[in-house]
Amino acid sequence: MTSLDVGGLTLENPLWLAPLAGVTVPAVRAFFRRLGVGLTHTEMVSAAGIVMGNRKTQDMITSPDGRDRPLILQIFGDDPALVEEGARLAIARGGFDALGINMACPMPKVFRKGSGAKLLESPKRAREMVSRLGSLGFPLWVKLRKATAAHPLSTAAFCGLLLEAGADHLTLHGRTAAQRYEGHADVEAVLALARAFPGKVSASGDVYAVEDVLRYLDGGCAGVFLARGILRDPFLVPRALARLGYPFDGSLCAPSPEREIDLLLELGRDLKEQQGERFALVLLKRFVSCMFKGFSGASVFRRAVATEMNWKGLEECLIGAQSLFRS
Ligand SMILES: Cc1cc2nc3c(=O)[nH]c(=O)nc-3n(C[C@H](O)[C@H](O)[C@H](O)COP(=O)(O)O)c2cc1C
Repeated sequence: MTSLDVGGLTLENPLWLAPLAGVTVPAVRAFFRRLGVGLTHTEMVSAAGIVMGNRKTQDMITSPDGRDRPLILQIFGDDPALVEEGARLAIARGGFDALGINMACPMPKVFRKGSGAKLLESPKRAREMVSRLGSLGFPLWVKLRKATAAHPLSTAAFCGLLLEAGADHLTLHGRTAAQRYEGHADVEAVLALARAFPGKVSASGDVYAVEDVLRYLDGGCAGVFLARGILRDPFLVPRALARLGYPFDGSLCAPSPEREIDLLLELGRDLKEQQGERFALVLLKRFVSCMFKGFSGASVFRRAVATEMNWKGLEECLIGAQSLFRS
């Protein structure tokens, strides 16, 4: 399989880890790299936080793993000049391959301040932001939500404006901001945009099965952002890669519970080291609660994991389950 040239990046495949606040920290990115994703994103990072030298923000833009490439740093903000300044500072630190702008977040703490999906209401400001960031000489990706009749521009017109202003690639999450994460994503809206701007559009929204990936790619999207679907079932990545004909470790398509636990332990230990025990505990519990289903002892195992209150207990529970599954 040849690599893909998309939005100024050369990528091994069209399956990409979406930006997920509170989730796509370096250890999680490394985990999904091991499962085959061709591109990763940081969590969304506040441009103002970068400029103010906020400690937590500095950590978010530091990538300790040189193998986690290509990596997109996604930033958000309302003021084009401030976003540009934040982007300049982040670029100077290095470690990533493209800038992403968040015009998709509907959550009040971002939206109410004029950032994220709120930018769909201000096409002029959105255009200025893109044009300033485009001049930094870094590939520029914009992730956005579907516009509604109440917006000044349709989704396609807004996207045309961003591309003219210098965006290299667009990803449409086929929900409106008002939907937040509820209801269905409008797959047709994403495919219509991909047809309108061939090669320039990727898809986000409701990717839970290999068929969902194929629907977007067959419909003309350049790539697919994997989000809640792979938090429930991380092995969707290798299964979709296999279906698309990408060479990959086939044993990961349907791994044994023991192998799944091995991979989770590796993730958990990395998380504990990089983010601390509490983060590792919460995230691993989240994975286990969705992953281990459909075999004898699975629900007992999930319940046992859910009751663990510290990392050591969780680790022991996972290791203990391995020998149980083996016998
Ligand atoms: C916990 C969580 C955090 C998210 N954080 C971000 C983010 O930081 N930046 C962003 O552009 N989208 C973010 N999203 C949206 C996802 O990238 C994706 O567009 C959305 O979940 C739709 O895909 P899905 O229906 O397949 O989950 C987040 C979604 C979730 C569930």
